[in-house]
Amino acid sequence: IDIKKLRSTTNGVVTIDPGYKNTGSCESAITFLDGEKGILRYRGYSIEELAEKANFLEVAYLLIFGELPTQAQLDKFHGDIKAQSVVDEDVRKIIDAFPKSAHPMGVLASLTSALTAFNPSSVNVNSEEDMYKAIVKIMGKFPVLVAWTLRKKQGLPLDYGDNSVGYVENVLKMMFKQPNCDYKLDPVVVDALDKLLILHADHEQNCSTSTVRIVGSSHAGLFASLSAGISALWGPLHGGANQAVLEMLEGIKEDGGDTKKYMAKAKDKDDPFRLMGFGHRVYKNFDPRAKIIKKSADDVLGNLGVQDPILDIAKGLEKEALEDAYFVDRKLYPNVDFYSGIIYRAMNIPTDMFTVMFALGRLPGWIAQWREMRLNKEPIGRPRQIYTGATHRPFKAIDQR
Ligand code: ACO
Repeated sequence: IDIKKLRSTTNGVVTIDPGYKNTGSCESAITFLDGEKGILRYRGYSIEELAEKANFLEVAYLLIFGELPTQAQLDKFHGDIKAQSVVDEDVRKIIDAFPKSAHPMGVLASLTSALTAFNPSSVNVNSEEDMYKAIVKIMGKFPVLVAWTLRKKQGLPLDYGDNSVGYVENVLKMMFKQPNCDYKLDPVVVDALDKLLILHADHEQNCSTSTVRIVGSSHAGLFASLSAGISALWGPLHGGANQAVLEMLEGIKEDGGDTKKYMAKAKDKDDPFRLMGFGHRVYKNFDPRAKIIKKSADDVLGNLGVQDPILDIAKGLEKEALEDAYFVDRKLYPNVDFYSGIIYRAMNIPTDMFTVMFALGRLPGWIAQWREMRLNKEPIGRPRQIYTGATHRPFKAIDQR
C-alpha cells in the first residue's frame, strides 16, 4: 500500500472522530505516554528521573533538541537566552493599556503575539539556524512577559531580573522583586518551581500543543503559534484546570468542607459541576505527574511552614474518589493540576496566574513540537467534516423572508 497516496486522498471516505479521541495527527519522537500504565517519558527519559535529577533548562534543551545537553551546550543555550532577555520598550505601553482586571492568560497571549511586531525576523524561519534564533528569543523574552503580567496586576514597576542567576531563579526574582529591595531566593521555592515546570514541559498532542502545531503548519511563525497555544491552554478543561481546582477547593472550604456533598454533585449528570483536577483524556490510571506533585506539595508546605486547610480537603476528595464506583468505573484519577495550585499558592502566586505558570513550563514543549513539525515538513493541518446542513435552496429577497 502506498501510505502517502492513501493519506492524500479521501476516496470519498471521511472518518469522524469528535475530540480526536482516536486520531493521530502526526508522528513524534518527543514524548512517550502510556495512559493505561501511567508512564510518561521525555525523549526516552522517565518523568520521575527528570523531575528528580535534571533542571528545567536541561529538560527544555532535551525536549527541543532531542538530547540532554553537555555543560558546554547548556551554558551556550543559557547564554543565548540571556542575550535575548529584554523586550522592546513599547511592550510596556501595551501592558499599560490593559485594565488591571484583565485575566493574565489573555494578557500573555496578546503580548506573545505582539512580540512578532518587534521581531519580524522570527516569522519566516525555514533554516535550523533561523529556528534557533527564534527559539532563544522567545525563551528569553517569555519569562519577562510572565513576570510583567504579574507585576502589572500588583502595581509593581516593570523591572528586569538578574541574569547572573539560573533561568528559574531569574523568573522568581523578576516576579517578586520589590522596589529598592532584592528578592531573597529560597532554595525550597526554586526547587519546587523547577519541578513543576519540568512536569508541565510537554505532554504530546494535547489541546494547546495540537493548536501550536496546527497554527504553525500554516507557517504563521513561532510567536503567533505559541500565542494560539496559550489561548487553548487557558480553558478550564485544559490548563485552566489549575485555577479551577483551587477555586473549587476554596468553595468547598467556605461551604463547610463537606466533600461528600461535592462528590455527589460531580456524579449527578443533571449538575454541570465536575471534580476539577480529575480525569484525563489519555490517563486511565494515575497521572504520574500527579504522584510527584502530591509529594512535592507535602514537602513544600512542610518546608515553608505553611498550613493550608485546602490541602486536607484535596486529600479527602482524592481518597473518596479512589474508593467511589463512579470514579473507579470511569478510571478518573487526579491529574497534574489537582495539587499544583496548592504549591503555587504556598509560593504566593495569585490564583489567576496559575495557568500562566503552566504556560511557562509548557513553553519548551510547544517549541519542540513546532520545531519537529517544521523540520518534518508536515503539510498544513486541515481536518475534513461531514456536512449536515441544508441542501441547495434558492435565495429569498429580504422582503420575502
Ligand atoms: N468529574 C466528574 N465526572 C467526570 C470528570 C470529572 N472531573 N471527568 C470525566 N467525567 C465523566 C464524564 O462525565 C463521563 O461520564 P459518562 O461516561 O457517564 O458520560 C466520563 O467521565 C468520561 O468523561 P469525558 O468528558 O468523556 O472524557 P474526556 O476525555 O472527553 O475529558 C477531561 C477529559 C476534559 C480532562 C475531563 O476528565 C474533565 O473535564 N476533567 C476536569 C477538568 C480537568 O481537570 N482538566 C485538566 C486535564 S489535565 C490538563 O489538561 C493539563
